[in-house]
Amino acid sequence: MLTPARTLPWDWYPGTIPENAVVDETAYVETTYSFYLCRSEQPAGVRIGRGASTYLGTMFDVGPRGRVSLGEYALVHGARIICDAEVEIGDYCLISWNVVLMDSYRVPLDLAERRRELEHVPRRRPRYLAADVPARPVRIGRNVWIGFDTCVLPGVTVGEGAVVGARSVVVTDVPAYTVVAGNPARVIRRLEETSDHDS
Ligand SMILES: CC(C)(COP(=O)(O)OP(=O)(O)OC[C@H]1O[C@@H](n2cnc3c(N)ncnc32)[C@H](O)[C@@H]1OP(=O)(O)O)[C@@H](O)C(=O)NCCC(=O)NCCS
Repeated sequence: MLTPARTLPWDWYPGTIPENAVVDETAYVETTYSFYLCRSEQPAGVRIGRGASTYLGTMFDVGPRGRVSLGEYALVHGARIICDAEVEIGDYCLISWNVVLMDSYRVPLDLAERRRELEHVPRRRPRYLAADVPARPVRIGRNVWIGFDTCVLPGVTVGEGAVVGARSVVVTDVPAYTVVAGNPARVIRRLEETSDHDS
C-alpha cells in the first residue's frame, strides 16, 4: 500500500505516513491527512493491524507520549482519536462517523490556565492544544460497535462485544456484551455472549 516514500498512491493530501506508524500491508488508510496532528514520539505511535481500515475524517491527534492501536479488521469510519497516553481499539471493532475517543481533555478547567494554553496555540506548528493535563487510557474491546457521534471520555473501557448507541456520551466503563446509549450512556440491554468461533 505504501510507496517507498511513505505516501499513498490514491491520496489527495500531499502528506506521508509517519516513520513511527506501523501499518500492516493489508490495512487501508484513505489519506495521510489523518496523521496531520500525529506528534507521537513513541516507537509505534500508531499501529494499524491486518485488514483494518481508516476512512476520511479519521484524525490521529496524538501527543508525544501517545500510542494508538487498531486491531485486526477494525474499521474506523471517521473518528477523532485524541491520545496522550493510550487508545486501544480491539480486533473487529466498528467505529462509526464523528466518534471522539479521548484519553485526555487537553484543556485545563482552571480559567487562567486555559487562557495561557490558548495563548500558546498560535506559536505551535501545526496549531494545536496541548496543555499538560492528566491522561487516562481508553480501551475499546474486541468486537465492539460504536454508533455515530458518540464521545468516549478519558479512562473508559468498553467491554468486548458491547454496542454503544448513536450520540452517546460514555463516561464510565461499559460491561462486555451490553448495549448502552444516551448521555450519560446507560445499559439498555444485555446481549448473548458469542465466542469469536461461533460467529
Ligand atoms: C444502539 C442501537 C443499535 C440499539 O438499537 P435497538 O436494540 O433496536 O434499540 P431499541 O430501538 O429497541 O431501543 C431500546 C431503548 O433504548 C433507547 N435508545 C436506543 N438507541 C438510543 C440512542 N442512540 N440514544 C438514546 N437512547 C437510545 C430507545 O429509546 C429505547 O428506550 P425505551 O426502552 O425507553 O423506549 C441503535 O439505537 C443505535 O444507536 N444504532 C447506531 C447506528 C449507527 O450508528 N449506525 C452507523 C453505521 S456504522
